[in-house]
Amino acid sequence: MTVFYLNREKTPRDTAGLAMDVTVLEYLRGQGLSGTKEGCATGDCGACTVVVERLNTAGKPFYRGVNACLALLPAFHGARLITVEGLAQNGKLHPAQQSMVDMHGSQCGFCTPGFVMSLFALAKAGGASGDRKKAVRAISGNLCRCTGYRPIIDAALSLKKTDDGYGGQAMNKRLCGIASSLPIGGILPQSADELAGGLLKNPAAGIIAGAMDLSLEITQNLARVENAVFLGAAADMKQITKKRGGWHIGAGANWEDIDNTCGKELPAISKMLERFGSPQIRCQATVGGNIANASPVADGPPAFMALAAELTLRKGGARRKMLLENFFLGYKKTALRVGEFIESVFLPQPKPSSVYQIYKVSKRREDDISAVLLAIYATPAKGGKIGAICIAAGGMAAIPRRALKTELALIGKPWTADSFNKAAAMLSKDFSPISDMRASAAYRAQVAKNLLIGFGEETAG
Ligand code: FES
Ligand code: FES
Repeated sequence: MTVFYLNREKTPRDTAGLAMDVTVLEYLRGQGLSGTKEGCATGDCGACTVVVERLNTAGKPFYRGVNACLALLPAFHGARLITVEGLAQNGKLHPAQQSMVDMHGSQCGFCTPGFVMSLFALAKAGGASGDRKKAVRAISGNLCRCTGYRPIIDAALSLKKTDDGYGGQAMNKRLCGIASSLPIGGILPQSADELAGGLLKNPAAGIIAGAMDLSLEITQNLARVENAVFLGAAADMKQITKKRGGWHIGAGANWEDIDNTCGKELPAISKMLERFGSPQIRCQATVGGNIANASPVADGPPAFMALAAELTLRKGGARRKMLLENFFLGYKKTALRVGEFIESVFLPQPKPSSVYQIYKVSKRREDDISAVLLAIYATPAKGGKIGAICIAAGGMAAIPRRALKTELALIGKPWTADSFNKAAAMLSKDFSPISDMRASAAYRAQVAKNLLIGFGEETAG
């Protein structure tokens, strides 16, 4: 059972009787709300963007654009879904729509509702305030094949925070009411404890967080999901707290929240996240999902592995800790046992004297999967030497992995460009990458070497 509000409706909608693997896009279009378009159904074009309104712990509303084609309805229990049909009021366009008209931001119009919804999310966050980077970032998950982006960026730049009725007291009160109306023990556990207990009783259940990869199975391979629990309502699994030398990140925290909480102190992560999926994907994809999915080309695992991140795995009331680098056993195989789940991740804070860099190489700048991702964390020793170094790579093996032989070749050596240049040859002993549609094996091997050499040149001295 999923209960949510749609647009400005005063009565919540109940999806009782609907299958748990219905995407938001499928639902909306089935309800005749065809303003939300299906372009790719893979999270690549943004034509299906809708905005989700939730309340934070202080009861204040916040708004996030998400891809309706990748979002499963049960993930939005207790939220308000806002579609392009819910913007105009009393025959007057919303500023997110009017700005597109004024700046000539639309031609064929197919992408326009998606752009408008990304602009709406930007307006609710206060607008771009003349910051072009912010404007571009807000629409970086939307593609347009005919207008060109300049007029759309102008539309984004012209937007201001606006009072459109959303976020008013009456609406918040309604949201508060349904968010706390969950039945205990259903498909929407409200805490890690409830999830742990539910999985003991039903260990075969899949765990769905952002559903970013799972939704592709549903939309591309017509897979069905019939036995699963959704993490969206487990508030304690979304928390991020800083204590004891690092960040404790609940497995259900999404990447946008990680950026907002840790980004200032971890600029390398923040920079990587600019190129991690799209804003819509970062608002849905969770750290736990990115790790448990065990994709060899996921960006989160190597980035966290370089900092020696540690997982807390939980089964029932029993917990065990494991370094992230030991979690991946083989292609799409992990150390998780039946009924066990990732509860949280501990990300140690880099030492002040250290250098932490993440390099991502992909065909497209935004919203693309890495051909190679190299994360390097190095600490100096006395005498200008390399004291410790951790090099973790994605896209170079069947699992995200450290370059242990290359690390050994560097420890104790002078921190010079020459040392990194020489050690780069060792990468071929650590990795035998494969060729696929993203890159050839030779390209990957060469790029990884170049990135390590580049790190040496950037940081020497
Ligand atoms: Fe393209 Fe959803 S339809 S991102
Ligand atoms: Fe035609 Fe953007 S206006 S795809």
